[in-house]
Amino acid sequence: LRVVHITAELAPIAKVGGLGDVVEGLARAHGKMGHAVTVILPFYSCLPTDKIDGLTHVMDYDVTKGRYQDGETRYFNFRTTAMRGRVNGIDVILLKPHDDERSNIFQGSKIYGGSYDEREAYLYFCRAAREFLIASGENPNIIHCHEWQACGFPMIFWGLRDAYGQDCDGMSNAKIMLTIHNLDSNGEARQEEFCATGVDASMFATVDKALDERTIGHNPERLCLLKGGIVYSNHVTTVSPTYATEILAGGGGFTGKNLVGNKHKFSGILNGIDPESWTPSDDPFIPYGYDSTNVKSQKALCKKYLQRGLGMKEDPDAPLVVCVSRLVPQKGVNLIEQAIRTTRFNGGQFVLLGTGHSDGVFRKMAETEEFGENSDSTRLMLMYSDALSHLLYAAADIVIVPSMFEPCGLTQMIALRYAALPLVRRTGGLADTVFDIDDASIDENERNGFVFDGTGAEDIDVALSRAFNLYKSKRSTFEEYQKRAMNVDNTWTEPAQSYIDLYRTL
Ligand code: ADP
Ligand code: GLC
Repeated sequence: LRVVHITAELAPIAKVGGLGDVVEGLARAHGKMGHAVTVILPFYSCLPTDKIDGLTHVMDYDVTKGRYQDGETRYFNFRTTAMRGRVNGIDVILLKPHDDERSNIFQGSKIYGGSYDEREAYLYFCRAAREFLIASGENPNIIHCHEWQACGFPMIFWGLRDAYGQDCDGMSNAKIMLTIHNLDSNGEARQEEFCATGVDASMFATVDKALDERTIGHNPERLCLLKGGIVYSNHVTTVSPTYATEILAGGGGFTGKNLVGNKHKFSGILNGIDPESWTPSDDPFIPYGYDSTNVKSQKALCKKYLQRGLGMKEDPDAPLVVCVSRLVPQKGVNLIEQAIRTTRFNGGQFVLLGTGHSDGVFRKMAETEEFGENSDSTRLMLMYSDALSHLLYAAADIVIVPSMFEPCGLTQMIALRYAALPLVRRTGGLADTVFDIDDASIDENERNGFVFDGTGAEDIDVALSRAFNLYKSKRSTFEEYQKRAMNVDNTWTEPAQSYIDLYRTL
């Protein structure tokens, strides 16, 4: 198959969270299976171009773009450049406008940090992707869109074809897939922002008929791009079976009941992790590589290396708890805070690596003596670092993921692969991948971590104390689970095949 992904993120060059990892892993897995895969991404000014091999100019072309002024939208041609390169072997197309006045689209030091209005920028990106696909003759079988940032694509694709008779040469047989990685992020655009793509906002009449106004989206005055994507795609997936069930039932933090109208084309496929990025025996970021035969001694060295590097007490017997996370309400900020306190109180060590708008509580904690930069037990590292994240997984005994909701979650899967036992809240993809060590209803061989329900401090405390007890009083059993965790296969092998099976049904 020829598959084209349209996405705002691709690891490692444009990664904010798991979306980047997933597009990278899925594209690579499909490439290895012999499918032709291309990823179309905005050419953010902050992209590290040294990590893009063979970057070359493909074409300059015009993209219709509207500007809303004095009560009406005027259209003009927006000159656009397409560049092509390879990122760790993945074929990538990068799109950027070169109109001086508008050149601030996708500028800035962060992926989503451009000063230009984000909805309008991504809608332009979607239209530019359509024009590129037509002009380049890429002729894909599947156009796989991700998140609201790519939802303009199916709307523009069908809108231009059906309402304006503008055929999509060479793409008339293409099917459009949408993957929702997080229903919390839905892209609410003003009417004129949508119309700037050259497609009339009356398309949303169909959307509103199919998906009740209250379904997703908070502002009834705005057009919810994610809803448009759901209605106009041939199939919609989300990133774990449990999250799919939760949102259809109106859970997962959303009133998603009305997605049920679209249930026939909605399914959940669990994410994988990419072994090329996440294999502890072959990881350039960790000082002592290991597999399940030497994990005990090598992990102990990684732990010591981390403790020394961060200036913490070099204690081999203090359980080292790690959290690598965006710091936003979804991730259970209060529970992370609680875990940091409880860990110290119980003689453990905690390292947090995270960024996000809910980091205030950790900034405050980091100013105290107990949890500050000279603490022997705790490091609160409010930053983004790929390299450090690898080291943390390698050194950790326990990785916590106490999310309020979690469409899939990758950190618990990475933890397993690095022989750190995950401690998670039972929700979404966490429920599909972590099985409690004390749960007698689960086959003994499947059990691989600690799971709790509830959202209170005591809920995570009970789980932590179970983990610490096992670590302290039955160390060899804990180590047995660590070895077993490493053998859990959460790579892309199975999910990549599920996507191909699904593509073929469209
Ligand atoms: P989400 O996509 O909701 O952020 P996931 O668990 O799916 O959550 O993916 C998070 C990814 O981002 C993982 O690869 C994790 O290691 C990485 N990550 C999150 N925060 C940081 C950070 N501060 N530094 C480095 N990597 C991070
Ligand atoms: C989202 C979700 C996360 C998921 C990731 C990749 O950011 O929050 O649960 O793993 O996308 O699909």
